[in-house]
Amino acid sequence: MREKPRVALYKTRYGYFTEDGREFVITRHDTPSPWINVISNGEYGLTFASTGTGYSWLTHARINRLTRCEQDLIKDEWGKFIYIRDNKTASAWSLCYKPTCYWPDFYEVRHGIGYSRVKSKYKEIESTLLIFIPPTEDAEIWQVKIKNLSPYKRSIGVFSYIEWCLGEYPDWHREFHRTFLETFYNKNLQAIFATKRLWQIPGKNDDYMNKEWDYLAFHSLSEEPTSYTSDKESFIGMYRTFLNPKAIENGMCNPREGKWLDAIGSLHINLELEVNEEKTIAFVLGVSKTKSKAQEIIRKYKGQREVEKAFEDLKVFWEDMLDKNSVSTPDKHLDILVNTWLKYQAISCRLWARTAYYQIGGAYGFRDQLQDSQIFLPLKSELTKNQILLHARHQFRDGIVWHWWDPIIERGVKSAHTDDLLWLPFIIMDYIEETNDLNMLNENIPFLDTGEESLFEHAKKAIDLVLSRFSKRGLPLIGEGDWNDGLSNVGPKWKGESVWLGHFLYYILIEFSKLCELMEKDDLAKSYLERASLLKKSLNKYAWDGSYFIRATKDDGTPLGSRKNKEGKIYLNSQIWSVISNSATREHSKKAMDSARKYLYKEYGPLLLTPAYSSPDATIGYITRYAPGIRENGGVYTHAACWAILAECLLKKADNAYLLYTKISPILRSHQNPDHFRTEPYVLPGNTDGPESPYFGRGGWSWYTGSASWLFKVLTEYLLGIRPTYEGLLIDPCIPKSWSHFRMKRLFRNATYLIEVENPKYVSSGVKSITINGKYQRSNLIIPQAPNKVHRIKVVMG
Ligand code: GLC
Repeated sequence: MREKPRVALYKTRYGYFTEDGREFVITRHDTPSPWINVISNGEYGLTFASTGTGYSWLTHARINRLTRCEQDLIKDEWGKFIYIRDNKTASAWSLCYKPTCYWPDFYEVRHGIGYSRVKSKYKEIESTLLIFIPPTEDAEIWQVKIKNLSPYKRSIGVFSYIEWCLGEYPDWHREFHRTFLETFYNKNLQAIFATKRLWQIPGKNDDYMNKEWDYLAFHSLSEEPTSYTSDKESFIGMYRTFLNPKAIENGMCNPREGKWLDAIGSLHINLELEVNEEKTIAFVLGVSKTKSKAQEIIRKYKGQREVEKAFEDLKVFWEDMLDKNSVSTPDKHLDILVNTWLKYQAISCRLWARTAYYQIGGAYGFRDQLQDSQIFLPLKSELTKNQILLHARHQFRDGIVWHWWDPIIERGVKSAHTDDLLWLPFIIMDYIEETNDLNMLNENIPFLDTGEESLFEHAKKAIDLVLSRFSKRGLPLIGEGDWNDGLSNVGPKWKGESVWLGHFLYYILIEFSKLCELMEKDDLAKSYLERASLLKKSLNKYAWDGSYFIRATKDDGTPLGSRKNKEGKIYLNSQIWSVISNSATREHSKKAMDSARKYLYKEYGPLLLTPAYSSPDATIGYITRYAPGIRENGGVYTHAACWAILAECLLKKADNAYLLYTKISPILRSHQNPDHFRTEPYVLPGNTDGPESPYFGRGGWSWYTGSASWLFKVLTEYLLGIRPTYEGLLIDPCIPKSWSHFRMKRLFRNATYLIEVENPKYVSSGVKSITINGKYQRSNLIIPQAPNKVHRIKVVMG
């Protein structure tokens, strides 16, 4: 049978998407920057770059790190490696490009959903590595296949190599830390175990520096190893490097274990391969609280059938998660992002791993993971609920929340950022629009300090606290910063105001008052509406700068983001949020958006502010200390760029919205010029350099960005325009005129809606008619239909 020709989408010299968009295939090892995968099941996680580098952790990549690495995106040389050795010639290379930096005859890395697969050919040996994490196990599996392509028998040595960290990262004082590590080899299980007698984290009883790492790490092989070692010195050899380890040269590890070494793990096996023969083995790296659980995992994955089954389970797990919602539009690039990669980026990286390459973390950000959890709404809304409840438990009785906190040790920083707490009501409202689960508001949730109250009270406390922090002019105070973390010194004396926060709060007051009404709290609703109306007046009176809104005022009253400033003259957020929140007068919102378009919309998307700050200004904050054009300092900050698309959709400016989307699409940017864009084509970068950078348009901070869930929301709910409201599902597209149709499968209140939108007159917005299961209706609001059924919706635009 002839193989079907493979369709390669958005192909560049570095790779392409498969036809279903579920894999990105990297076809060479020298990508412009490390193009990685962030794989996690919510507890166990790993990063894996196309060169084979990366690290592993459990729950928290900084506090509970399993393997060592160094954050160096240029050398990118730390990983968990597999060496290959031709036992006859003693020549050696590695299964991935790193660490030996060999030049393969063939090299292909497929980053998929929950796994990566590397295939390479070198010296007539074909090798394949499949790396993945089973959905419910604290372990990773490396299935390795080695095939002899030469016309004669081969003896091939395969060696694994990992360096134990076990606990807090970085263990920069390795000579200190290594003295607490202990390894031992279990012959029966064919596994190396490792543990550490010190975990340098604050303990419950003040036992800092006096607590053990209370897990057992293990590294095993499916077959009996030919040799093993846990000693770095005997594996690498004194004064050698990862490039030419002694054990590989010798073809054998010198077996060592115990407490007195620089602890690593290496398992070696020699494979005898006939002509065309392929052998499959599996390495496992994992961690467990108990020895028995570790043994169970090790034994389980000795069998290749179990390995295959775990991989099948993983695929089913992700398909079930992703396929609840899908779209089909005339733009394949949009479908690929919406159907697969934005969801995966938000879930696997942002919510579960909370770490990547540009930011190695593990903490929860109060506002960050709440916003990220919006991704679950049309997939598994109960997971959004879990996130809401988790964050509500990280609020103090007075309404203040932790700006971020570390799971495991439950340590955080009390927030002086004035927006953090408001994301709680914001996401609660989103969740209720999706589910109508008003009952959740009555659930009692404990505070961080004392007592507990209903979730509704938690949200109310957040709003009331912000309402109590107002200036005499009726604008909210900025404190140590708002959404923009870099505005860290604008209002330390609690006098400076935040205009963006004013818009944001206005939105919350209006929307929350609707919720109050639903909860029959009419007096509260009324008082919030009164405050909203006063706020709107103040915003339009004091924050208006002639043709746009200023961004903030400092403690001394001077404005920021004003024509009076030399740099940072105009900020994006205070314009677009005046539209999103509807807090501006018609005239002001029109002018504000015209100004944003005129000054901020550039080749690679909307800038967060312009011009960038060229030198540090201690009265503004660390935003001014970034290089000009980088990150918040005048770059395209993707998170806010998504809000600009949202604002354009609300104004029904479909051309603008679509154009902005194409400018920030990593698929299109990378397809145009992957070397210029640099970061991965399949995930959003957190920012793109602004015009003050000599690298204008260069992507950075990929993966770890809150923009993934926002872009998903904005594209599905505002561009395609199918969005939940308290009353039902609203159909309100704002699409390019050239589109003749699109389709969406959407879960809503336990029913599945198959929505087909036709656009016979090639308009960009406006719904002419809708039929629900064949029944005609004029309104574009779909009242929730019978649950547990499939409903067919036909929409005609015009
Ligand atoms: C980072 C932070 C996020 C903040 C944003 C803008 O992405 O994680 O919380 O809102 O920067 O400063």
